[in-house]
Amino acid sequence: MHVLHVVGARPNFMKIAPILKALSSAPGVRQTLVHTGQHYDAKMSDVFFQDLGMPAPDVHLGVGSGSHAQQTAKVMLAIEPVLLEKKPDVLVVAGDVNSTIAAALVASKLGIAIAHVEAGLRSRDWSMPEEVNRVLTDRLSDLCLTPSRDGDENLRAEGIPAEKIAFVGNVMIDSLRAALPRARERNALAAQGLSPRGYALVTLHRPSNVDQPAQLQSLFGALAELAELIPVLCPLHPRTRAQLSANPALAAKLGLQSNLKLIEPLGYLDFLALMDGARLVLTDSGGIQEETTALGVPCLTLRDNTERPVTISDGTNRLLGSDPARIGPAARELLAGSLAEGGPARIPELWDGHAAERITSELLARFAR
Ligand code: UD1
Repeated sequence: MHVLHVVGARPNFMKIAPILKALSSAPGVRQTLVHTGQHYDAKMSDVFFQDLGMPAPDVHLGVGSGSHAQQTAKVMLAIEPVLLEKKPDVLVVAGDVNSTIAAALVASKLGIAIAHVEAGLRSRDWSMPEEVNRVLTDRLSDLCLTPSRDGDENLRAEGIPAEKIAFVGNVMIDSLRAALPRARERNALAAQGLSPRGYALVTLHRPSNVDQPAQLQSLFGALAELAELIPVLCPLHPRTRAQLSANPALAAKLGLQSNLKLIEPLGYLDFLALMDGARLVLTDSGGIQEETTALGVPCLTLRDNTERPVTISDGTNRLLGSDPARIGPAARELLAGSLAEGGPARIPELWDGHAAERITSELLARFAR
């Protein structure tokens, strides 16, 4: 069986790494790893390959940034000759980024089977580009590998036949469990001058939160207020960094707040260590809602919806909405609670560190020659 994996953006790497590893010890399996180059900075890409012990990509498409149409089109044009040459038995794509739908769309027209990792998640918010990418990728896929039971329900409700759906659990948690001991050995907290359970960790990068100057300003204003309660560490996504640079008055004001540290993006292990040690996490990311649930760390999500409801029903996540005024009261409430309150969470079903083995079995059963 020849498996061709496509990765492109930061949240893909920790989902594909365990699958590459599990398949590498399966007999008769050949693998090709294609990096689209959607994320290209050392801190957005290379460090993840090192931290996750991933092999270097066999093919790098180097598409870089652009509008959604440009980025998607560039991946499509660049990947078509690769798929034609490699003729894989199955294409494996993960998550909901532009590289995911672009690769799936091309493979589908070439008659190549597609397996979608992290299938079935739905925010039902069509203003999110990721929702478009998810729904369409699932529709094109021959195998929808779901991380939680709600994924199966969503797919069945959309008419995806049951035989195309396999509930395998959350493969990102395979990476988390494997890396946690190594992450804990690192000096990540001390390097930032932080002590265990003594800080809030914040990530913000959704266009809906950072692309509008007014929302960006009130969010960071609220973070500055939060920093009066507890030290705040905020690794900045390039998009957020660029938007802050466009507002020098805000950037200067934040620079004066000594308890609020804006830093460069972190690698996988350092970020994992900092999530693990945080008193609370504030985010608009998808994956971080899941990782905090697996770690039992309270998470406040700055979005109006989530495609990951199991992190609320079973985990430590709370949907705060996008109004920055809600941050202060919610954080105060959390900080007033006992330390034990955040965790240990109920770990969702099959978030057990063995999802990649189940994915390997599914792929072999369906796509081996
Ligand atoms: C993408 C995903 C999003 C995911 C996020 C994680 C889509 C539609 N969105 O959003 O789901 O949560 O990745 O980070 O695919 N840039 C750099 N260096 C890089 C990469 C990007 O400077 O290595 C800058 C560029 O100016 C670019 C901007 O960041 O325009 C945004 O990058 P892009 O890949 O378009 O989307 P993300 O916001 O990262």
